[in-house]
Amino acid sequence: MTFWKKFFDNTSMFDRFGNINVVSSLKEVILVKHLENRGKKVDIYLTTDKNINLYELEQLCDSVGWVRRPLKKIKAAIDHSFITVCLFYRTGEKKKLVGFARATSDTVFNATIWDVVVHPDFQRKGLGKILIDQVVLQLRGADITTITLFADPQVVSFYRNLGFVTDPDGVKGMFWYPR
Ligand SMILES: CC(C)(COP(=O)(O)OP(=O)(O)OC[C@H]1O[C@@H](n2cnc3c(N)ncnc32)[C@H](O)[C@@H]1OP(=O)(O)O)[C@@H](O)C(=O)NCCC(=O)NCCS
Repeated sequence: MTFWKKFFDNTSMFDRFGNINVVSSLKEVILVKHLENRGKKVDIYLTTDKNINLYELEQLCDSVGWVRRPLKKIKAAIDHSFITVCLFYRTGEKKKLVGFARATSDTVFNATIWDVVVHPDFQRKGLGKILIDQVVLQLRGADITTITLFADPQVVSFYRNLGFVTDPDGVKGMFWYPR
């Protein structure tokens, strides 16, 4: 049995939660969207498996112009995240990462979403929404009630659309940086 056969045999195992397919186990892979990219039909899959190719993730972050960070630190950040969500499609025996998001958490009260990214070729096709919906559903599944994130100015309305509010009750995000 090939890798992909084994891999995709799992795709029918999912729970229904509203309109969203919720990944119910770590290694599970679910089909989330049929898209067209450059005239080709592409099936987009979602997984919360943390076994992520760091070079691919770096390429994805490069594609949106983010400053590079040491891979060793990214690996540690992923290992210590409460959840990671990856979106990918397959080309032959390989998979191509096109979306990523992660959240850190104290596991009971609070969580913060980080590193939300969709490859430019796949933006404005609903994948960012799928990433955030999945993260939120997973966190709500753990009964976490306060979910925060830091939005770049150009994506505030993207997050607003998905139910996030800026400065609730006048609360301000504050940062400390080394001088
Ligand atoms: C922000 C980002 C993740 C959005 O992903 P996406 O796949 O393009 O988003 P979606 O297609 O799921 O969009 C969902 C909705 O938000 C809207 N939207 C998407 N990007 C938006 C933006 N930058 N500003 C306002 N609305 C936006 C879409 O039009 C869509 O609205 P609709 O449901 O009414 O059609 C993606 O543009 C990205 O990776 N940007 C670069 C990295 C980045 O800035 N990350 C966020 C750091 S805080």
